[in-house]
Amino acid sequence: MRMYDLIEKKKNGQELSTEEIRWMIFSYTKDEIPDYQMSAMTMAICFTGLNDRETLDLTLAMKDSGDCLNLSGIEGVTADKHSTGGVGDKTTLSLAPIIAALGVPMAKMSGRGLGFTGGTIDKLECFPGFTTALSEEKFIKNVNTIKLAIAAQTANLAPADKKLYALRDVTATVDQMSLIAGSIMSKKLASGSDIIVLDVKTGSGAFMKTLEDAQKLAEIMVRIGTMAGKKTAAVITDMDEPLGNAVGNSLEVIEAIEALSGNGPKDFMEVVYALGSKILVLAGKAQTGREAQQMMQRCITSGAAKQKFADFVAAQGGDASYVWDTVKFPKTAYEMPVYAPQAGYIKSIDAQDIGTACMMLGGGRETKESTIDLSVGIYLMKKRGGFTEAKGHIATVYANDRAKGEAAVKMVQEAYNITAEAAGQVPMVKKTIPSIQMQK
Ligand code: URA
Repeated sequence: MRMYDLIEKKKNGQELSTEEIRWMIFSYTKDEIPDYQMSAMTMAICFTGLNDRETLDLTLAMKDSGDCLNLSGIEGVTADKHSTGGVGDKTTLSLAPIIAALGVPMAKMSGRGLGFTGGTIDKLECFPGFTTALSEEKFIKNVNTIKLAIAAQTANLAPADKKLYALRDVTATVDQMSLIAGSIMSKKLASGSDIIVLDVKTGSGAFMKTLEDAQKLAEIMVRIGTMAGKKTAAVITDMDEPLGNAVGNSLEVIEAIEALSGNGPKDFMEVVYALGSKILVLAGKAQTGREAQQMMQRCITSGAAKQKFADFVAAQGGDASYVWDTVKFPKTAYEMPVYAPQAGYIKSIDAQDIGTACMMLGGGRETKESTIDLSVGIYLMKKRGGFTEAKGHIATVYANDRAKGEAAVKMVQEAYNITAEAAGQVPMVKKTIPSIQMQK
């Protein structure tokens, strides 16, 4: 087979066979296909697309390019949750202990943040001593004993995706639907869980800017998961403004702990309950979403979810006393208020701008190698629909460098769109894509 011929085929809109796709992905992983030919292929895919069968083949080939976790040693049906990435998205930190406390094993592989989006692994490392470098044996043991483990993706989990993602990142080919679906689902399938619930974000702080595109992406991923034999469902949620009030690693951890104490922001809890309901229903723990939500609420009120989070932090080597006493998290040198330039209603807060401001403070990575400052971030006092007086205190920037802090204050102020008309309520859950019944 020659890569040249495959590029030519795809350029002309022809279908690639299963054999061709597998040969291409395995050869690329082994450095037998140069980046310049693979870039031509990804660009051809951007223009002519992949059909469902080709997208499934691409996903399975990327999954098979490395190790797959064997979760057969875990008792019960295992669940995983994945977000397509957003700003202020600390959902896993609150959702996973609730689900685990309700008896569904959560065996989760997570990533680090890149660019303006945050990552669960960085947030968990706010607990001194916490490790996500778990051996497969320890990972399975923790899931069996406390029903929850979160590990960093190992270097050999879908290595084809790692290589391809880095290439797409620099060739303007990230936002192609089949390539995103294949990238996400190859990692989820290699992680081995029986249930996959996807949180597909839409809005200014998401890859998918429109609901229509988010729905297409969600539907493709649900079809891929189902064809691969997994119970898969998706929830499309709003990312037009940051999720919750806190953006920045330790600020988000504190907010997630507050949520487990019954004090979570309304928009954030809406997303937690929507995703959790899907998992509990697919796992057979609840008949309806409403019943599932009541179970989750009781689990928070009883303190079981917060206790589960503390047990999980301790089981992965972290100092669990921070869960009970969040003032222990490090403070920044500067706390800088952001004031509203005029009176009015908050119409929107550009999520990408807030994420970028946090990254510039040192809270996010500009490159994979960047080290990050876990204490910096932004706290949004006013969110969409809220009213502010002129010069009202709308947000606080937490910085360790005065000049960076001042630049962030300006960015945050500009991210707010304040208008004279009252803004209506925007539902967080835009749409749900139910799982598809598998044919026997
Ligand atoms: N997240 C991924 O893992 N891959 C993509 O292509 C986009 C978002």
